Amino acid sequence: EYVLMKNHIINRDEAYINFDDRGYYFGDGIYEVIRIYNGSPFLWEEHFDRFLRSAEELDIVLPQSLNKIKQNILTLITKNNVINGTVYLQMTRGEQERNHLYNRDITPVITAFTKEGGVPVHQQKHGISLWSLEDIRWLRCDIKTINLLGNVMSKRKAEDMGSQEALLHRGHIVTEGSSSNVFIVKNGTLYTHPANHYILNGITRLYVEQLADNEHIPLQKEAFTTEDAQQADEMFVTSTSLEIVPVTKVQGTIRSDFPIGPVTRKLQHAFEKSKT
Ligand code: PDD
Repeated sequence: EYVLMKNHIINRDEAYINFDDRGYYFGDGIYEVIRIYNGSPFLWEEHFDRFLRSAEELDIVLPQSLNKIKQNILTLITKNNVINGTVYLQMTRGEQERNHLYNRDITPVITAFTKEGGVPVHQQKHGISLWSLEDIRWLRCDIKTINLLGNVMSKRKAEDMGSQEALLHRGHIVTEGSSSNVFIVKNGTLYTHPANHYILNGITRLYVEQLADNEHIPLQKEAFTTEDAQQADEMFVTSTSLEIVPVTKVQGTIRSDFPIGPVTRKLQHAFEKSKT
């Protein structure tokens, strides 16, 4: 199995990370997770647009052209012969003796690996339960940084409470999941949090927006409350790894049960059709 390290595709066994990598000390870096369907990366341009945006927001300058990075990723997918799976791409600010103050003359470290595996068919069919809790993350959740403590804490909590994902809310406003975006359906209209600093603007979220448009399902990108969530007709989460997964139960700070409804099924169907 091969990985990308800096500008080289090498054996995983030969890969190493410098002790002074700022990603290791500070979580100072960014990442993307991209789906591979039938050997081809899915919504690739959208992922790279977000990657560039995250880099810019953190004042990290690409160490090589975007085209070169894309080429390396494609080569990695081919060399690992991934048909269905994901590619993980990460860029840390670089290597520097530990200091909060970063230097601008260090070279960012790009790494990538691929993972074989399909989509969670069982969850897509039968739904999952969410554990709702206060969103304690920082105020720049729009940046896809590897600094994910708030996310990993809430994911562990959800799992410990017997759920598969967290439902985060800031006060009474529902934001997103620990690693997914959240949608509700009320009276045939879809609602999801607007793309601002409080959520990650998910690529799957953007794609669902398009699908909803094609299917003539009205969509409101406006914040909804925990109360709205509790009274929703349907709820689902989206991400690169999950695609569209129905939510059948919420526990924790709010409690509710949901059927897997027609809007969710319609969007899942449209997603499935559009992939091929
Ligand atoms: N997670 N919100 C958060 C906090 C996320 O970490 C993710 C993705 C999403 C959905 O984004 P997208 O549709 O672009 O995958 C929303 C990835 C899959 C991960 O960390 O593994």
